[in-house]
Amino acid sequence: MSAILKTKSQVRPGGPQWGHGPSGGDSNIFEHIIEQIHDHGYVVLDGALADNLLNGLFLHFTTLDREAFKQAGIGRQQDFHLNDFTRRDQIHWLSPGAVEVQGYFDWIEQLRLYINRNLFLGLFDYECHYAHYPEGGFYKKHVDAFRGTSNRRLSTILYLNPQWQPGDGGELAMYRERENDPFLRIAPQYGRMVIFLSEVFPHEVLRANRARFSLTGWYRVNGSTAEVLDPPLIT
Ligand code: OGA
Ligand code: MN
Repeated sequence: MSAILKTKSQVRPGGPQWGHGPSGGDSNIFEHIIEQIHDHGYVVLDGALADNLLNGLFLHFTTLDREAFKQAGIGRQQDFHLNDFTRRDQIHWLSPGAVEVQGYFDWIEQLRLYINRNLFLGLFDYECHYAHYPEGGFYKKHVDAFRGTSNRRLSTILYLNPQWQPGDGGELAMYRERENDPFLRIAPQYGRMVIFLSEVFPHEVLRANRARFSLTGWYRVNGSTAEVLDPPLIT
């Protein structure tokens, strides 16, 4: 990824058994993330979040009322429309401060600072929502940001599906630009996290044969100028 500069090169000690802890216990994971994003533009991680944090999110998600979720649409403001043909998920936007999600936002903020120190992406803030794909749900091939037209730089997806089986479908298919076949299919396993450059990878959620839960978010750069205030997402 030539667009990304990296200052530091370190060999990651240990394996996927990430340490978690208050005193910089996540730095091995963060180092792994920036290396993979620098080299490949994406990373797939298992067990990135501590169990209590993960289980807390799962509990929060699964105890939210149905009414707390809205049909997801496409585009912003005047472009916004519901499109049953493109995506069929329901979303619930999250904001920091709520006790159930604060640990997640803290982790995301630490990672933001780490990335900015090492990859110079200039990430400014983060927005995220829970997504519920009902049985039969999908999201057709799309990019999260078109080059130069959006302030989304880095997409994150955390999966919250205990005991996802191969026949359950719902994989995230990742494509390279201008290629018709995915180079990767990722099952939405509990605790798995995918992070990728928003402008680089078209991707698709294949039909899920059972309800599928995720927490999807985007690190953004500051897209506001004197003339154009960055438009808020319609929720
Ligand atoms: C999205 C998206 C992928 C997934 O919400 O933009 O692409 O695996 N989600 O849930
Ligand atoms: Mn997407």
